[in-house]
Amino acid sequence: MNNRTILFVDACVREQSRTRRLASYVLEQLEGQVTELRLEHEPMAPLDGALLERRNKAAQEGRFSDELFRYAHLFADADEIVIAAPYWDLSFPALLKTFLEQVCVVGVTFRYDETGMPEGLCKARRLIYVTTVGGVGLPEEFGYGYVSGLARQYFGIPETRCIKAEGLDIIGADVPELLKQAEKEAENL
Ligand SMILES: Cc1cc2nc3c(=O)[nH]c(=O)nc-3n(C[C@H](O)[C@H](O)[C@H](O)COP(=O)(O)O)c2cc1C
Repeated sequence: MNNRTILFVDACVREQSRTRRLASYVLEQLEGQVTELRLEHEPMAPLDGALLERRNKAAQEGRFSDELFRYAHLFADADEIVIAAPYWDLSFPALLKTFLEQVCVVGVTFRYDETGMPEGLCKARRLIYVTTVGGVGLPEEFGYGYVSGLARQYFGIPETRCIKAEGLDIIGADVPELLKQAEKEAENL
């Protein structure tokens, strides 16, 4: 039996999400037990003052098994991570940022070395970011770039890949064909 674990973080919100559909294809190409987090249905909230205080207190007291750190542990322990997030306003839905706030925990997913540099504590060797975009050719984007930066510089995940379909909302776009082209990229994962 394959004990390899894949954490699938689904930040899509539409029932007919093209990003989720592409991510399902990506997951079919991978081997391992998938744990799925459909963020829309997860009991998460952005870190406000009260939550941050509770979290800091738990961390100071070394209570890292507290439920507050559930997402951070799931993330740190996975062998591979797949994130599905549609391209929204140059990045991704706020749901994903909320999740990443839960995941960035000193002592679980990373720590600081004596020079102040982050040092990753995550097991995964690869993170795959799956996205679909309404338009094309934007010179800047802060979705994959941001997640990839966090993965490599904080979490210690050396490889990040982006599987992307663009131009889906252009009038006349052949959406099934654009998704098929993106699926081809996923075949070489
Ligand atoms: C709130 C919102 C913001 C969006 N922002 C952008 C954008 O900045 N640039 C772009 O090209 N498309 C944008 N889109 C279009 C989506 O990227 C596109 O429709 C995508 O395929 C949606 O993925 P889904 O089918 O998985 O929901 C936006 C869509 C929504 C709903």
